[in-house]
Amino acid sequence: MKDFQNYHPSPPSSTQSNPPQAGGLVDGQGRRISYLRLAITDRCNLRCQYCRPEKGVSFIPHQEILRFEELGRLVAVFCALGINKVRVTGGEPFSRRGCLPFLTRLRKIDGVQHLHITTNGVKTSRYLNELSSIGLNGMNVSLDTLDQKRFWKITRRNYLEAVLQTVHGALAQGIPLKINSVVLEDTRDDEIIQLAGLARDFPITLRFIERMPFSGTMRSEKLENGNLLRRLKRIFPAIEECTATLPTTARIFALPGYKGTLGLIQGYSRLFCETCNKVRITPTGMLKTCLYDNGALDLKSMLRTGAGDHEIREAVVACIHNRFKNGHEAERFSNRETEPSMAMIGG
Ligand code: GTP
Ligand code: 5AD
Ligand code: SF4
Repeated sequence: MKDFQNYHPSPPSSTQSNPPQAGGLVDGQGRRISYLRLAITDRCNLRCQYCRPEKGVSFIPHQEILRFEELGRLVAVFCALGINKVRVTGGEPFSRRGCLPFLTRLRKIDGVQHLHITTNGVKTSRYLNELSSIGLNGMNVSLDTLDQKRFWKITRRNYLEAVLQTVHGALAQGIPLKINSVVLEDTRDDEIIQLAGLARDFPITLRFIERMPFSGTMRSEKLENGNLLRRLKRIFPAIEECTATLPTTARIFALPGYKGTLGLIQGYSRLFCETCNKVRITPTGMLKTCLYDNGALDLKSMLRTGAGDHEIREAVVACIHNRFKNGHEAERFSNRETEPSMAMIGG
């Protein structure tokens, strides 16, 4: 693997009307973009029912996936434009060989001030020592239930113990931890209470997530998420919302006697688009400026046809300038018959 730890992108051209370093990356609505999500693989060792079908999943051919060296170059280019937070996702990032060395190299790129991962926690416990020693700034672990049978039903695999080992291992290493729990149509109140118990006993944020239409199957009926906030207030009458200082996808709630906090991600309702500060790169190198868009810029083609950093930068700046106003507008324009899989997007 080519080492890109000392990779410094060339300076931006003086002909650009809005030099990126001066103003950072700002979209047409005035939203500053500082957060890059990098999906490094579509592969995963779970088959969550809201993410992908149980059988007949076809994986993207290896040569279509961005190489680590290409990903590293893009990260450096984006950081020169003002990105300071990078989250590595998948699929499951640790399903890709070389994920840990890749994270170690990302850590050394100029401008990567905050390095995070989102993982399903199945294989992650074996990497915790190294993750802690590279100073990972945070880990988000997906965990929708603490019940063995429900875990099997939701993920079609039997790895609850392994995920819990990762959760407790990360706590022991002092890695800042959030847990993502997608609330399904049949999630019961007692499961919600049990999951919240993790935030009561440990200094973590337990975030309940509205299910979104990214299951890799035919387009389903309109989702019925109900009013999750009303439900949480009914179950936990003492919750109090905390005010956010930074743009955030999650609303955060404190509860008396809790070591951690509860969170609510209203990604289906799309209530946080106004402050959205993130863009995504899919495993095949498409830049998405909204979770709900179809892909706004083919970065892989640019990389593989010899585009220079300067050209990539200009294309990214233009693309971000034309970003959709919100996820509803992006969805209207995407007009798909089949729901994309979250594993192809990176969450
Ligand atoms: P933090 O940096 O810790 O706030 O994490 P995050 O919420 O940005 O990332 P994570 O990978 O943990 O995602 C949690 C959930 O939020 C997933 O279901 C994501 O799909 C959803 N999510 C993250 N960003 C967006 C977004 O921009 N729009 C929508 N609709 N959902 C999002
Ligand atoms: N709706 C909401 N969240 C989802 N995730 C995966 N698929 C969906 C979906 N259809 C979540 C996972 C993971 C994060 C990256 O995205 O729980 O934590
Ligand atoms: Fe894997 Fe995450 Fe999709 Fe579950 S939601 S199948 S853990 S990529």
